[in-house]
Amino acid sequence: MSTSRQGIWPIEPHTQAKHHILTYYLKAWFPILSQVSRRLLYVDGFAGPGEYSGGEPGSAILALKVATDDDKLRAQLTKPGMELVFVFIEKDEDTFADLERKVNEFKPNLPSNFRIEMRNSTFQHVVDVSLKELDEQNRKMAPSFIFVDPFGPTGFPMSLVERIVKQPSAEVLINFSYQPLNRWFLKDPSKHPRLDELFGDASWRDALSIPDPSTKEDFLVQQYRRALEARGWRGISFRMVNKHNQSQYYLIFGTKHYLGMLAMKSAMWKVDPEGTFSYSDLSNVDQPRLFSLDMDEDYSRGLAEQIFQRRRGTTAGKQSIIEDELAWHPTAIEKHLRRALIILEYESNPPKIVEVQKADASLRKARTYPKDCRITFGDSRPEDGSIGRPTLIRDRPVGGADVGDDGGDQAGDGDNVGAGLKPAPRDTGTPHYKEGNGDGIGNPAPTWNRLWQTSSIAIEEGSLHSEGASFVEGASSRRRRPRLRIKGATVATKKRAGWE
Ligand SMILES: C[S@@+](CC[C@H](N)C(=O)[O-])C[C@H]1O[C@@H](n2cnc3c(N)ncnc32)[C@H](O)[C@@H]1O
Repeated sequence: MSTSRQGIWPIEPHTQAKHHILTYYLKAWFPILSQVSRRLLYVDGFAGPGEYSGGEPGSAILALKVATDDDKLRAQLTKPGMELVFVFIEKDEDTFADLERKVNEFKPNLPSNFRIEMRNSTFQHVVDVSLKELDEQNRKMAPSFIFVDPFGPTGFPMSLVERIVKQPSAEVLINFSYQPLNRWFLKDPSKHPRLDELFGDASWRDALSIPDPSTKEDFLVQQYRRALEARGWRGISFRMVNKHNQSQYYLIFGTKHYLGMLAMKSAMWKVDPEGTFSYSDLSNVDQPRLFSLDMDEDYSRGLAEQIFQRRRGTTAGKQSIIEDELAWHPTAIEKHLRRALIILEYESNPPKIVEVQKADASLRKARTYPKDCRITFGDSRPEDGSIGRPTLIRDRPVGGADVGDDGGDQAGDGDNVGAGLKPAPRDTGTPHYKEGNGDGIGNPAPTWNRLWQTSSIAIEEGSLHSEGASFVEGASSRRRRPRLRIKGATVATKKRAGWE
């Protein structure tokens, strides 16, 4: 255990909560992304010293631990042809030296296909140079998770967001440092240009005339989220409350993919089992509070209403409801979907779900919604109160992946959760992460071969986007580089370096 000294500071409870969210998410992100890309990039942009004064691991070491501690995941991440690149960036020289020491201690435990890039520099500079390099070579960044965890609201301007978001599969978890922003930046006009950079324009300045502190806070957080969304990242936020009961910061997650949203919500639910997506230093992260059943019911009812409003009078596959409604609902996760469907089918008068059909036309158990089922919603709009005749709208055909469907008699059965993939086209065997009841590592997705053969997802490897392409399992056991088969032909993929 380290002693307290300059450069290493004690860990705060909200930092532990932040680390829990990061850990839970990465436990989902690594397995899923390793199914679709042989190269993954984890960027810790404000890495810190790698350790806290009580010996607790910092974010950089946590990421390495997630990728190596679990035998099954380690095996998945070290399969032939796979490469993981960890980029740890830290501006402060002493802190960087501490980080380097911790990472070096960890290195003997690292598989040979894990590469670590250490940068004693600013996040902005490192990302700027790497993106320029990629642009010059007309290449794209490998699927990446970027953790942006500064002490204050600087170092991550919206102009940089705009460039990162253009990459095909980049996700961010941003520490939106509200406390320093409110204390040191809002009150000091000389710092306002820095906030213009953070938000991407001057629209945040309306906050200066909002007298009520909590209205002002809400406005600024929403403004920032809107700015991210306008650039292409949809997301959710998690509020961290300090011991004075004030918002210390918000963790804001940005993704383009429904799987990322589902996995991050799942991580946030684990840290805050009430689903308010907040954590207070006055509570204990290791002793989750009791579930609030009332709130669960509220979320389910809200989701039910949202689904019905969008789907009334139509027929939809359950998978499309997961992708289009459940994923983007601000709080609901899989358990709420089943409850929402039960509310619509059994507890609404007249019933708002009028038919549920399994793909193979076999009978389903009552109150269950297997993942391949199609659901017909009534339309109770007609003035006479009758349920209108549902019309069949064109919807994605039922997905082809065949894992995780247990017949649909459990909460969350057969739903697809995971992280960070490019949006799957309709009617694919979408890779799965099935929520387990353990520590958040999902079931393994379908095997590499099966996944690609059943799927027409755009392929990351070599930036090739092609339908009907498949990686050849086993080819890389003799050759280091994976090979790609396209419509019968087999070609070698090019070797990649840097952030590509
Ligand atoms: C909140 S701490 C990071 C904690 C770490 N992510 C963790 O969870 O263990 C922020 C770190 O970012 C570093 N930093 C500040 N500005 C930076 C910049 N522009 N680029 C990179 N690092 C920076 C600070 O020196 C500090 O060590």
